[in-house]
Amino acid sequence: MEHLINTQVKNIQISGIRQFFNRVAQFPDAIQLTIGQPDFPTPEHIKEAGKKAIAENKTGYTKNAGLDELCLAATNFIEFKYKLTYNPKTEVITTIGASQGIDIAFRTILEEGSEVILPGPVYPAYEPIIKMCGGIPVYADTRETGFKITAKQIESLITSKTRCVMLPYPSNPTGCILTKTELAEIAQVLQDRNVFVLSDEIYSELVYGQKHYSIASFPGMKEKTIIINGLSKSHSMTGWRVGFVFAPENIAKHMLKVHQYNVSCASSISQWAAVQALTKGVDDASAMRGEYEKRRDYVYDRLVSMGIEVVKPEGAFYLFPSIAKFGLNAEEFAIRLLEEGKVACVPGSAFSGYGEGYLRLSYAYSMEILEEGCNRFERFIATL
Ligand SMILES: Cc1ncc(COP(=O)(O)O)c(C=O)c1O
Repeated sequence: MEHLINTQVKNIQISGIRQFFNRVAQFPDAIQLTIGQPDFPTPEHIKEAGKKAIAENKTGYTKNAGLDELCLAATNFIEFKYKLTYNPKTEVITTIGASQGIDIAFRTILEEGSEVILPGPVYPAYEPIIKMCGGIPVYADTRETGFKITAKQIESLITSKTRCVMLPYPSNPTGCILTKTELAEIAQVLQDRNVFVLSDEIYSELVYGQKHYSIASFPGMKEKTIIINGLSKSHSMTGWRVGFVFAPENIAKHMLKVHQYNVSCASSISQWAAVQALTKGVDDASAMRGEYEKRRDYVYDRLVSMGIEVVKPEGAFYLFPSIAKFGLNAEEFAIRLLEEGKVACVPGSAFSGYGEGYLRLSYAYSMEILEEGCNRFERFIATL
């Protein structure tokens, strides 16, 4: 029966990150610098709120968009943090992680032949969803622009078929952010155009030494922007699966239909935990942020002292060093680093062809692990 499987689905490859994880599992003594999730436990008060929800039998379906309390807490949170104003009754949907938000956003806006402009290298989940919707990914090569998509690039790639521009900043895998000025330039290009912006801001609370800005806060942008956010990274809640989409009512009401027929609602228990996170844990990310910043500085300095070319990331918890000078492709390098150097990093090629020649290194690990990982990395490159 496999011949009857949807062709778009058949053509999708398993994520390069997953493929590499499977290989890493065979090397239990390797230092792992692969994982894209916080190494901190979920804050205790949030866990307690989850337990309480179970004890109080708050275990039924909720409204499709999520609990009223949660929608209010989520809109208050992004207003307080990023000066973004959304109506809690009509302009926010609670999703199953940011992942489901990305899915319902693309499924709501794309049609056969719709083009989506996105930066490369990029988080690998967007392209398969775009393709399953019949859309066409159009990459902006950001290797010469510090991994940041520019207003000029967007302008040159826009066609009559462009339906959406993807802005995934702070970026996984590069850790780059867009500054207020860079966003203003992009807004200038897009504000009079009939294209959506899908802004994946899941790392918005993990920006170092400066503020996070959302494209939706620029003149003329809110009406065309869908914001993706969530608690996975900010509150160390990856397994609770709570995300949000924020969009003007005339877009959100259509996304809500896709969401409703897809999942009905996010887990009620997780939603109650999320209410706690967004009301009593508004600044829970700040201690973690301080820790990540120290780790970023440590690993960045070590790589630079080894003569490795690397852009200093300003957000998320990844570094994306170039390994091109060693004459191996990203996968060969990552495999040899794993097998000979006993360090696991994700080959940059898992983040589109534009990541070839790079390695993604996560610093969501303790200082001890990072130190040992850097020592092993240094010893390994000395053998090349
Ligand atoms: C850029 C980006 N967007 C979305 C997600 C998915 O987040 P969630 O676990 O909330 O679905 C991730 C997870 O790593 C990510 O890096």
